Amino acid sequence: MADLFLKQAEQYSATRPDPSHDLVWDVGTGSGQAAVSLASIYTKVIGTDTSNKQLEFAPKLPNVRYLCTSPNISPSELEQIGTESSVDLVTVAQALHWFDNQSFYDQVKWILKKPNGVIAAWCYTIPEIDDQFDPIFRKFYSESKPYWDLLRGLVDDKYTTIKFPFEAVDGCDHTGPFEFKSKKLMSLDEFFTYVRSWSAYQTAKEKGVELLNDGAIEEFTRAWNGDENGQRCVTYPVYLRIGKAYFNWQKSDTTR
Ligand SMILES: C[S@@+](CC[C@H](N)C(=O)[O-])C[C@H]1O[C@@H](n2cnc3c(N)ncnc32)[C@H](O)[C@@H]1O
Repeated sequence: MADLFLKQAEQYSATRPDPSHDLVWDVGTGSGQAAVSLASIYTKVIGTDTSNKQLEFAPKLPNVRYLCTSPNISPSELEQIGTESSVDLVTVAQALHWFDNQSFYDQVKWILKKPNGVIAAWCYTIPEIDDQFDPIFRKFYSESKPYWDLLRGLVDDKYTTIKFPFEAVDGCDHTGPFEFKSKKLMSLDEFFTYVRSWSAYQTAKEKGVELLNDGAIEEFTRAWNGDENGQRCVTYPVYLRIGKAYFNWQKSDTTR
């Protein structure tokens, strides 16, 4: 079967459609986690965030440009990212719930290439380890609820309820959420650092509440059961929404 294609390999590669990899916009890039991975696949990556502090920690790469923007990106800020129909891929990693609004979606539709430009937005919910650790962590998370912004509910809903006014990409009949698992080896200290990175942890602290108090630390330490290096394999459930701007899109078309 493979022999059938050998002779015309050169003509095949010259004439068949292939995805374009010119420009990505990673919105809410934070310290550039997704931007850095995308930099090895795309010619140019623009990572934007409202926080200069986050951007300071993003790795500097020759084909990645970071921009600090206002929460509602202005037309002139948008033009620094790209021109109309110039972006192949918009990514939003664990941030869409902060700016789920019509003007953002209008901007994405304006800037995406038509008809093949794609938006991919994903969130991850709380990590899982095993039957001993997980119930303790779920209880801890539920007790942290008063310190989370209401928009965090969209993550708890696994992005099923977030607005996502895009068309299904080719080969799919809906825009998700599609579920994945992302695994990471972590020490208990790294796990505590993850908890301390929660916005809720900071909010509680400002209100004089230490979420990771001695009791919580003791309970987590007892349930951790790390390997010889003190590490566990931590699983983050990831929920992906993916779609493309439909061809006849009109600005502020709210019908989808
Ligand atoms: C949980 S972090 C995610 C960072 C990174 N994308 C990641 O995968 O870890 C959410 C980021 O969204 C940014 N953010 C919040 N509101 C924003 C807005 N309106 N426009 C752009 N970025 C925003 C925050 O500053 C923060 O860096």
